[in-house]
Amino acid sequence: MAREFSTIGVVGLGTMGAGIAEVLARTGLTVVAVEVDEAGIERGKGHITHSTARALAKGKLDEAAHAEVHSRISYTTELADLADADLVIEAIPESLADKAALFAELDKIVKPEAILASNTSSLSITEIGVHTGRPGKVVGLHFFNPAPVLKLTEIVRTVVTEPDVVADVVEFAKRLGKEPVVMGDRAGFIANALLFGYLNHAVSMYEQKYATREDLDAAMRFGCGYPMGPLALLDLIGLDTAYEILETMYAQSRNRLHAPSPILKQMITAGLLGRKTGRGFYTYDAPDSPTVVADAQTPAAAADGDVALREVRRVGVVGTGTMATGIVEVFARKGFDVILRARTADKAQAALGKVRKSLDRQVAKGRLAEDARDEILARVTPAVEFEELADCDLVIEAVAEDLAVKQAVFGALDEVVKPGAILATTTSSLPVIECAAATSRPADVVGLHFFNPAPIMKLVEIVETISTSADVVATAHALCQQVGKHPVHCGDRAGFIVNALLFPYLNDAVKMLEAHYADADDIDTAMKVGCGLPMGPFELLDVVGLDVSLAIQRTLYNEFREAGFAPAPLLEHLVTAGRLGRKTGKGFRDYS
Ligand SMILES: NC(=O)c1ccc[n+]([C@@H]2O[C@H](COP(=O)([O-])OP(=O)(O)OC[C@H]3O[C@@H](n4cnc5c(N)ncnc54)[C@H](O)[C@@H]3O)[C@@H](O)[C@H]2O)c1
Repeated sequence: MAREFSTIGVVGLGTMGAGIAEVLARTGLTVVAVEVDEAGIERGKGHITHSTARALAKGKLDEAAHAEVHSRISYTTELADLADADLVIEAIPESLADKAALFAELDKIVKPEAILASNTSSLSITEIGVHTGRPGKVVGLHFFNPAPVLKLTEIVRTVVTEPDVVADVVEFAKRLGKEPVVMGDRAGFIANALLFGYLNHAVSMYEQKYATREDLDAAMRFGCGYPMGPLALLDLIGLDTAYEILETMYAQSRNRLHAPSPILKQMITAGLLGRKTGRGFYTYDAPDSPTVVADAQTPAAAADGDVALREVRRVGVVGTGTMATGIVEVFARKGFDVILRARTADKAQAALGKVRKSLDRQVAKGRLAEDARDEILARVTPAVEFEELADCDLVIEAVAEDLAVKQAVFGALDEVVKPGAILATTTSSLPVIECAAATSRPADVVGLHFFNPAPIMKLVEIVETISTSADVVATAHALCQQVGKHPVHCGDRAGFIVNALLFPYLNDAVKMLEAHYADADDIDTAMKVGCGLPMGPFELLDVVGLDVSLAIQRTLYNEFREAGFAPAPLLEHLVTAGRLGRKTGKGFRDYS
């Protein structure tokens, strides 16, 4: 017989505890909420009232249900009031000593059969459980922030948790409308173990001034479809909580990439904890508010006129692949004259055919008129000779990802293209400066990293080398905006922003799989349902191609020499075995 859970205790009503209490009350359970003092109760009540008022306003709760939710929660500062609870969920700050002390006390108060759960993000459930006389009834019940919205719950069992306790807590989580995934006791569990390496990496990029906070966040939103950028997410999580999670992960992994970036400590000491204090990486209009307001770091609107932009009317594109034809379409659609340069006339015609096919698809969907399509195509001129690019104001190279091939193209462009033209490369992993060095005009060379499919993806990474001139960067920025893209700026380092943040995380997921901590389905579910990512890491790796992913990971490893960036042996083996993902029908999964 499964246990009946009707009265649930929640200890700690901060960012997480308040959300958990709300979820419980909305499921019809009786909640006893415990805080340290009256001020804590008031703050917790405030969180809940605020959140349920929003649900009421959005029509997700009616008046009666709203009143009932509040009537189901009682508030206290006495742990003794938890005597009748069937389950207690702890959500106090991420400190092992505090949690251990709390569990020891709870053990003396609650019924012998009651279950004690911790919402810890990273601490060992085993270490918490041994402080009670019932380690078999101690589990991790890890909700995600915001608890009323995100459906994942990680249920953490230790080597001594009783199997029926796990089974009952799984059923309980389902009753709350959540998606439970069961796992063993390891720092960061599934989702945070993969998420926090990435978040910490983004913090270090910010700290090194490699890119601005806005650009780091926009890069991951527009380049990967993430619901939030890493720094905005850290503000939501709370920098103090994030710091503790990283510390715990580092203590277990000894992976330098988990050691909290120094700036986190500085910000915490200065009271910049994120949204909860009204300031973290961003500034908010009040504590606990999601509304970002301008501050000293907010970028100035538009170019302030200190550099004159170069005029760009005629755009050359070198290459005939997916990126080249996508970029041709982007510029031709916005009214630019485009020269599409291929190695042979046949290839040029075939590439033009690809552009036409893409436009035809939009005509078929009713998104483009036939005469508009014809006008766009009429703006594209196929070419074979480099000389035909002589008059271009901007030439974008999108040939094979091979440095020698790209350098040859830049050498050829340097000889024929008029002075003052901008020469750009779409490389996703090679140094832009290597392309610049193949010309006699490195100041005019810039990286314009479009994402695939170029007509759809909004992000463009503008990569500035140590030689690129300021007006070239400013012109590239204005041009991206003109063609409807969201430009972000970064230096000329392997992986730029997006790939440097994305691939180490994917590689970590492969290492987690390799270590048999969780299977591919659970890892994909955790990242999609817990973090709102559009695809799980294994789904994405199979789409990108394991060979391509391995090459990018190797490039990152070779440039930064970070032990943690070393490609996962399992990834190497799959590539060696020819399992390259969807394109070969087999990767992490089999496709029919
Ligand atoms: N913030 C997140 O995104 C997130 C997500 C999932 C899990 N968690 C985990 O949830 C837990 C709570 O994190 P948070 O972000 O909600 O922290 P928080 O700082 O927002 O809230 C903690 C609350 O606990 C109260 N508290 C402290 N000691 C207490 C005690 N002895 N008895 C009763 N109340 C006490 C504090 O007054 C505060 O209101 C941590 O273990 C954290 O790792 C956090």
